[in-house]
Amino acid sequence: MADDIEVVEEGGVKIARLKGDARLPVEEMLKKVGIPPAFADRSFENFTTNSKYPSLFQAKKTVQEYAMLYPAVEGGLLLMGPTGVGKTHLAVALCKELLKKGADCLFVDFRDSLKEYTSFPNQDRREDYLFYLAGVEVLIWDDFASRPVSEWEEDFVYRLIDRRYREGKATVLTTAHTEGSGTSLENIIGARLRSRLYEMCKEVQIEAPDYRSKVRRLSYRAGGKFEKERED
Ligand SMILES: Nc1ncnc2c1ncn2[C@@H]1O[C@H](COP(=O)(O)OP(=O)(O)OP(=O)(O)O)[C@@H](O)[C@H]1O
Ligand SMILES: [Mg+2]
Repeated sequence: MADDIEVVEEGGVKIARLKGDARLPVEEMLKKVGIPPAFADRSFENFTTNSKYPSLFQAKKTVQEYAMLYPAVEGGLLLMGPTGVGKTHLAVALCKELLKKGADCLFVDFRDSLKEYTSFPNQDRREDYLFYLAGVEVLIWDDFASRPVSEWEEDFVYRLIDRRYREGKATVLTTAHTEGSGTSLENIIGARLRSRLYEMCKEVQIEAPDYRSKVRRLSYRAGGKFEKERED
């Protein structure tokens, strides 16, 4: 997919190159890679941290370092934390940095991937989809395990993760499940898969308030003026 991508500045405009002379504006490129349009401008630069939430600072540092060191990294990342703490934001920021390095990345929402997989009319097409996701250099699977899976969806998730595990491919997952909670990851995906993730991914736990509610509160206080700074 994104084998030959490079982002270059031409006449002050950022251009992402895709194979030969084909050129795509950056927004098109991000869409092609699967980044949700609403997150197209998310980056490490606009991810704010503050001293009240050390895990937030640490998470940003870990993900940013991963991006800097890639491909000299081992395995992937598992970003864990409750809703609204910035997991998807960090995953998008990482994806964009890896694309700049020419990595073949794909950003996929967990529910969308299950929907797509189950929408194919026959087993061959479903297998093609699985092999496609399995073959990508870096798979960013957002909102992982965000809904219970049926038996054959579980088989898809298991085989995809297992294949990537065996091939030593980088997989980056975000999940709102936290360890020890009633619906831990293990409850949803089972012990075998959870065990592989321990080995495949460095865990990054985030404990912070829901940024969305902060934005709403600040926006309310500012008389409706949209304000996006995390308050101390
Ligand atoms: N530290 C931050 N700095 C700037 N914006 C942030 C930060 N944290 C979150 N946001 C913004 O808040 C919104 C929610 O963040 P995001 O979608 O990344 O949360 P999430 O952890 O993925 O939540 P969910 O589990 O519900 O998917 C996004 O618009 C994101 O850009
Ligand atoms: Mg998210």
